[in-house]
Amino acid sequence: MPFINYNDTKVYYELKKKNGEAGASIDALIFVHGSGESSLTWKNQFSLDLNLDLIAIDLPSHGKSELVENLDLDLYVDAIHELINQLKLKSVILCGHSLGGAIIQDFYFKHPEKVVGLILVGTGARLRVAPMILESLSKDFQAYLDSIPVGAFYRKTDQNIINEFVSEVSKVPESVVFQDFSICDKFDVIDEVKSGKIKVPSLIICGKADKLTPVKYSQFFKQNIDNSELIIIKNAGHMVMLENPSELNEVIKNFINTFN
Ligand code: COA
Repeated sequence: MPFINYNDTKVYYELKKKNGEAGASIDALIFVHGSGESSLTWKNQFSLDLNLDLIAIDLPSHGKSELVENLDLDLYVDAIHELINQLKLKSVILCGHSLGGAIIQDFYFKHPEKVVGLILVGTGARLRVAPMILESLSKDFQAYLDSIPVGAFYRKTDQNIINEFVSEVSKVPESVVFQDFSICDKFDVIDEVKSGKIKVPSLIICGKADKLTPVKYSQFFKQNIDNSELIIIKNAGHMVMLENPSELNEVIKNFINTFN
């Protein structure tokens, strides 16, 4: 199983090597999951057949990666930087969901030379968290888990998809999920985005019924990123990659093809 070593801990990543000859201009599309999730969030995107490597990281303390005591945005960004360096990737497209979207924006601001495109899925330039969510995470994890079906999913989404997701999140230590949401709560790059700091082509995707990162957050990106496209996906809430994977994959494929 592929791991990198980051600060003496193992960080796992899922890898699907590119289909086709070497020589494509972009080395990899890297998927970054959201709070309390893992690379499994992107399992439906691994059926994409593209001329670049597909990589999905398990952020430190998530999935198959080892536990780290104190999590913060810098650490997540640093772990991805290390992954890119250790795999000797020269240019990448980053795709982040929710917290993952915050991470890829911060990564881009710190290491713009590595990033040729961004895919911002169900995320925002500011990610304030409802106090009720933070409170249930600190006091009653089960109450948080119980809130996921209504909070994170479209009301008509298949119950099996929801149950599988809740079961995955329930395996993550409570303190990790709490730290993830606290990182979101502090995240605010509204001014940077407004000043036009995102200059690479960007694909912005949001589920029409997303309650956690409403469509308004994606419209803000669209208004402030010159070279951007906004796609609103029907029949999906916050977990668009699980709820409507075929439409999401089509949109991602079309975006990647614009680089060829
Ligand atoms: N992009 C564009 N606009 C944004 C934004 C973003 N990422 N984040 C906030 N704003 C806007 C809000 O819409 C609001 O605009 P308005 O005054 O015209 O209504 C303004 O900025 C201030 O919003 P906010 O910072 O969120 O503070 P608030 O006191 O209005 O609300 C919450 C706080 C937590 C209740 C609210 O942010 C919320 O409901 N969040 C979604 C639920 C959640 O917890 N999501 C988890 C995200 S990981």
